[in-house]
Amino acid sequence: MNFNLNLPTRVYFGQGSIKNMEGELKDYRKVMLLYGGGSIKRNGLYDEVIEVLKGAGKDFVEFGGIEPNPRYRSVLAASEVCVAEGVDLILAVGGGSVIDAAKAVALRSRHMEIDFWDLMRNPRYLEGAISVGTILTLAATGSETNCGFVLTNLKREEKLGHGNPNVYPKFAIMDPGYTKSVPRSHTRNGIVDTIAHLLEQYFTPLSDQDVLTDLMLERIERLIKNTMAVGPKLLGDLNNYSYREEHMYYAYMGLNGEIAGKVKRGDWASHGIEHALSAVYDIAHGAGLSIVFPHWMDYVVERKPERVKRMAVNIFEVEDKGSDLAIAREGIERFRKYLRRIEAPLTPRDEGIDQLDIDKVMHAAFARDSVLGHYVKLEEKDVRAIFESMK
Ligand code: NZQ
Ligand code: ZN
Repeated sequence: MNFNLNLPTRVYFGQGSIKNMEGELKDYRKVMLLYGGGSIKRNGLYDEVIEVLKGAGKDFVEFGGIEPNPRYRSVLAASEVCVAEGVDLILAVGGGSVIDAAKAVALRSRHMEIDFWDLMRNPRYLEGAISVGTILTLAATGSETNCGFVLTNLKREEKLGHGNPNVYPKFAIMDPGYTKSVPRSHTRNGIVDTIAHLLEQYFTPLSDQDVLTDLMLERIERLIKNTMAVGPKLLGDLNNYSYREEHMYYAYMGLNGEIAGKVKRGDWASHGIEHALSAVYDIAHGAGLSIVFPHWMDYVVERKPERVKRMAVNIFEVEDKGSDLAIAREGIERFRKYLRRIEAPLTPRDEGIDQLDIDKVMHAAFARDSVLGHYVKLEEKDVRAIFESMK
């Protein structure tokens, strides 16, 4: 096993961790406070952050209104402000959407001359970015400490992800108390997203005959089981700090890059397919994943059942008796049962999409890549069949 790993974000996890922010601000002259549609104003976090900024004597500018599934045009608008105001730290206070937008703004502001959507479609390394700091308010994406971001271009009906090591947040304030006000539906979506990130990495094409890969898969199994166990408890008691804490930790572990660095390459086809659904129908990411992942499993299990079978036995406790395929299929059934239990959608119809426009979602799914996935490589005909199976 070879890997390179550099996880540079300073993490402050736990109740009251905002007290560490003032020290983190000292090297910056001008801060942009970036936030979403107003949840931070309703739950009091906005006032708390303003107090810290003022207490630290910081000059700052605000940019609110970042949408869920953050829009490309908002990134362009916020970068104009950053450049005009000479911002040198973007402080993202929100969920994955606000944090992703902050990273994109950070990169774009140092590269105003390029067509940024062309960069999303033709990824390449760019030097330099404004610094980013994060205060997480929704556990799900892992964006608070990773260097990826996902943007939606509504005009083109495309949603694409991009990564650049220069946008790793310098610091992340992760206080589970800030997530207590996340409504039930978004909490549930966050649970699904956490499980999905772990599964994507579980479906690495690497063989589990290798002892270190096997160890990593065992760790993922444990994390998925723990997330699945806390999910219904949290959904039944949204105000419970220790359930919020557990979920925030698992979501962070799910995509902070540590597992990714070691398994090297997960599958990620389900994410690509989900982003296509979100691009066309603007549905929440976790809701889309809940629809896509079991359909993806139905398709790949017929071609390569091994890891699905391992999942069935080790995560869903299916008895290891009978054919691999039958065991694996039972695992997928139990996964669906779990999703049903937490009232997550299983079909596009459950999300109000009565007629899935296959041509549109196919355009979005292949806007950049010609093949999706690594556990099983999916070409256009395969993804089309997966979309057809959702109808
Ligand atoms: O905008 P506000 O008013 O803040 O409301 C948000 C939003 O409506 C609300 N919310 C957030 N924190 C809250 C709260 N409401 C009450 N109390 C709080 N404490 O929740 C809604 C959803 O927020 P959003 O940020 O969109 O959710 P999430 O964290 O799930 O982020 C989703 C985005 O991240 C991308 C997704 O594709 C999607 O665009 N992803 C980013 C990844 C990454 N950077 O690594 C990986 C993921 O796989 C994912 O693709
Ligand atoms: Zn995700």
